[in-house]
Amino acid sequence: MRNRLFFPITIKGKYIRNRSVMPPMVCFGEAENDGFVTDKHIEHYKARARGGTGLIIVEAAAVHPDGRLSADQLGIWSDKHIQGLSKIAHACHQYGAITLIQIHHAGLKTPQSVVDIPVGPSKNYDNPSKALSMEEIENIKKDFVEAASRAKKAGFDGIELHGAHGYLLNQFTSCITNRRKDEYGGGLAGRMKLPVDIIRLIAKESSRDDFIIGYRMGGNDPTLSDSIKIAKELEEAGIDLLHVSKGIQDPDNPLPQEPKGFPFNWIVYAGTEIRKNVSIPVIVVNGIRTPKQAALIVENRLADFVAIGRGHLSDPEWTNKAMDGLEPTPCIECQPRCHWYTNGDLCPRG
Ligand SMILES: Cc1cc2nc3c(=O)[nH]c(=O)nc-3n(C[C@H](O)[C@H](O)[C@H](O)COP(=O)(O)O)c2cc1C
Repeated sequence: MRNRLFFPITIKGKYIRNRSVMPPMVCFGEAENDGFVTDKHIEHYKARARGGTGLIIVEAAAVHPDGRLSADQLGIWSDKHIQGLSKIAHACHQYGAITLIQIHHAGLKTPQSVVDIPVGPSKNYDNPSKALSMEEIENIKKDFVEAASRAKKAGFDGIELHGAHGYLLNQFTSCITNRRKDEYGGGLAGRMKLPVDIIRLIAKESSRDDFIIGYRMGGNDPTLSDSIKIAKELEEAGIDLLHVSKGIQDPDNPLPQEPKGFPFNWIVYAGTEIRKNVSIPVIVVNGIRTPKQAALIVENRLADFVAIGRGHLSDPEWTNKAMDGLEPTPCIECQPRCHWYTNGDLCPRG
């Protein structure tokens, strides 16, 4: 009897062949300052699709050049990006993977190499920055909606909004970074307004088709119970798929704590708890390395999908090997940092 990790699932009519997900991971050093796709990007994603992965979420692509997380980030801010991006979507489809692309704005985390004064919901006291005006917020909504439309034109099956890891959408939902007094701040409804408006606008444009709207959120924004409320709001707004990772930690609040004996870290635990409170499919991620670990999660109905990040970097055939009962080449957790954050060619397993 095959295990549930290899059971197909359908989202918005899209048939996903198994529950193994390649989460978004920027190929640092690959794109140039213009954010165009290279042949290496295409080969990178094609290899993982050929490797059997059910769902590929292509790395964070910037919705505006002034919101890039690094000068060499992939772009989706211009129609000129569509052609290159379509080659990634096509290559993944050729090998049977459903493919989303993560769309992103770094907000206050935009580095000085990209912009002099980064923007966010409120000023960041530590470095020069600026709170977005109402007009600028409207422009950012437009940037996200246009990026989603470009993703659709490029042939992707959907998008994932990057609402985690302390980037712009996360800065809005977090009570730590959002100190606005207007309709985009204050209580949960105000802090959720920007992502909810964006989701509704994208959903309106794709209501009659099968375009998937995913959202990556933090499980600690700032507590797990707050994150559960955020997840419910996102579901209500119309997302089809939720991906739980890290958010913005409150220095005065402890991290969510996995119960004694829970065999994964707090990030996976948060995802499993959030899943109990929503009815859309949930992806869990972080530190999941082996097929046995991934199967344990899906077999026990703790999550619908398991994302294997660095495992997919160290072995593009991760999923096929798992299906054949083989051990994928493991990521050896390079210290102080994974080489893919600077140059994937230096990965000892690459
Ligand atoms: C080189 C690298 C780039 C990453 N880029 C992104 C990104 O573009 N968007 C995102 O949401 N997370 C990004 N992440 C985080 C991964 O999606 C994932 O959450 C993280 O690696 C933990 O999962 P793992 O333990 O399975 O690797 C990146 C991680 C790595 C190693």
